[in-house]
Amino acid sequence: MNILDFAQRKCRGEKISMVTCYDTWSARILNQSDIDTLLVGDSLAMVMHGYDSTVHATADMMATHVAAVRRGAPDKFIVGDMPFLSLRRGLSAAMDTVLALMQAGSNCVKIEGAVGQLDLMTHIVQSGVPVMGHLGLTPQSVEAFGGHRVQGRNEGDAAAIVDAAKQLQDAGCFALVLECVPAELGQLITQRLHIPVIGIGAGPATDGQVLVLHDMLGMDSAFKPKFLRHYAQGEAVISQALQQYHADVHSGAFPATAEVYA
Ligand code: KIV
Repeated sequence: MNILDFAQRKCRGEKISMVTCYDTWSARILNQSDIDTLLVGDSLAMVMHGYDSTVHATADMMATHVAAVRRGAPDKFIVGDMPFLSLRRGLSAAMDTVLALMQAGSNCVKIEGAVGQLDLMTHIVQSGVPVMGHLGLTPQSVEAFGGHRVQGRNEGDAAAIVDAAKQLQDAGCFALVLECVPAELGQLITQRLHIPVIGIGAGPATDGQVLVLHDMLGMDSAFKPKFLRHYAQGEAVISQALQQYHADVHSGAFPATAEVYA
């Protein structure tokens, strides 16, 4: 998949699959899969570093993880997230972060929101860097939203998201992530835009879907928001393997003769 394929997929009505990826070992597995594109999302601040929100992701952190993913997935299209406030500290600081992500191995950057940053986004596009937008429940604004809430439920909010989506398209974004909005709004925005819309909790009509890898693999069995499907029981499988290893070490069943150097 490369940048041109996104538009073609939309034209042909072929869906786009995207998952997050933060490290080399999962990147290596994903590189062998048919998954279309990998997102080094700032959710890594929570999933990999244990923070309680994405505002703790930094440019250095993002670039380090992008580089690790690129080493494991040389063949995949990689989306690198611009971290919290990275577009709000002036052009030079924003472009330094773009540079860091692109040099680390990103194929594009993803930017949350629209208001107050459209010119900067156009500047990034015109600098030769593809930009993916992100609207709806943008996690970097979770404090402003008063928590993780579905966005665009009333007419005014929905209209504002539709407007922002069109503005992002006009600013030159090649695709849009749409997070946690009613399915009808997901469908409307997907129909109104000529760029592909990749949904997470935005219903079935979007041009693609994105999920956090650890969430869809069931690494936290207790985390099951309405939009999420567990494709594996990762937590249970790993816990079971660890308990078995522990038991085998204690009983002496590991290592066996075949696992010992003569
Ligand atoms: O950082 C992230 O994982 C994301 C997805 C939730 C779309 O932006």
